[in-house]
Amino acid sequence: MRQVKPNIFEVGAIDWDRRLFDELIPLPDGTSYNAYIVKGSEKTALIDTVDPTKTDTLITNLAEAGIKKIDYLISHHAEQDHSGSIPDILEIYPDAKVVTNEKCKNMLIDLMGIDEQKFIVIEDGQELSLGNKTLKFIFTPWVHWPETMATWLAEDKILFSCDFFGSHLATSDLFVTDKARVYESAKRYYAEIMMPFRGIIEKNLEKIKSLDIKIIAPSHGPLYNEPKFIIDAYKQWISDEVENKVIVAYVSMHGSTKKMVEHLVDALMARGIGVQQFNLVSADIGKLAVEMVDAAGIVLASPTVLTGAHPAAAYAAFLVNALRPKTKYLAVIGSFGWGGRMVEQLKGLLANSKAEILEPVIIKGEPKEQDFKKLDELADKMISKIKDKK
Ligand code: FEO
Repeated sequence: MRQVKPNIFEVGAIDWDRRLFDELIPLPDGTSYNAYIVKGSEKTALIDTVDPTKTDTLITNLAEAGIKKIDYLISHHAEQDHSGSIPDILEIYPDAKVVTNEKCKNMLIDLMGIDEQKFIVIEDGQELSLGNKTLKFIFTPWVHWPETMATWLAEDKILFSCDFFGSHLATSDLFVTDKARVYESAKRYYAEIMMPFRGIIEKNLEKIKSLDIKIIAPSHGPLYNEPKFIIDAYKQWISDEVENKVIVAYVSMHGSTKKMVEHLVDALMARGIGVQQFNLVSADIGKLAVEMVDAAGIVLASPTVLTGAHPAAAYAAFLVNALRPKTKYLAVIGSFGWGGRMVEQLKGLLANSKAEILEPVIIKGEPKEQDFKKLDELADKMISKIKDKK
């Protein structure tokens, strides 16, 4: 239990050991599930709960904070890492009402089997008085589910933002101390779950623009007592601007595709383009996602397996398609033995992407002089297109 301000406590749990989220997203630095108690002169609210694996920690922290009664349990988001302990809390604190929006209520009933009678449904902009403190609910959809919302505590100028602005980072720091570390974690988090919703995030940022925020209290990672730091970072990430950087993500079975990749990477670097090369067999997909946030181009390089793309390259294409980065250019390169439909397959997996797909470089067997020349031409094309956009 940690005090944020007088009568406001962080009562969630730090999960130092968790290494995977959604059985998909690597968590190299663990995470936290932040939950908050706000004690007003008349009522007490608990803002979100924790992952079901950490319910005991939440219950202990509530006892430590001397919480005998919870009047309102504010649920910002139905995903289980924040809602998973709600049934236990409702048992221990039977007077508590779950305060949330209609969409979230329905999801909580579906996911947790919570009794419909337990809910108070609020609208966007509605206020709830705790006596000398007032909670105002701000709907912030698609950060990163349709029901997500935030709570503004006007008297203390705190925005409880749930996943929005969060970072998967287990740390004993209540507030951000190491900005570079938090920036990296928050960017990774944005890349993994927020990036597909850039347009809606812009609207959500607009919605909170007029608030005089002193603290942003997210549901993962440390709190921000300089909110501008993370708000500016989000503005940059969602902007249309890309960096002079190309991702080259490859898999190679017998070395031909790797030789192509090495040549292309050298050619791009020689032309002054920043490169991030990933071997898809062992790559941390979180790092790959981070680079997608602002890369101007992505090159997928694959050998031909059973007449199609290597499954590792198909997985990368699937991720690009799902995360919908603002990348401007995509290219497929690779090698085949006797033929195949690798390019068509990968292009098919990239149907959501708005990026321009450049002429592929597909070769037979080991790369030869004329193949290296084609890769040089691809590098030329990329640099001229990136320069044109500047
Ligand atoms: Fe942290 Fe979308 O849950």
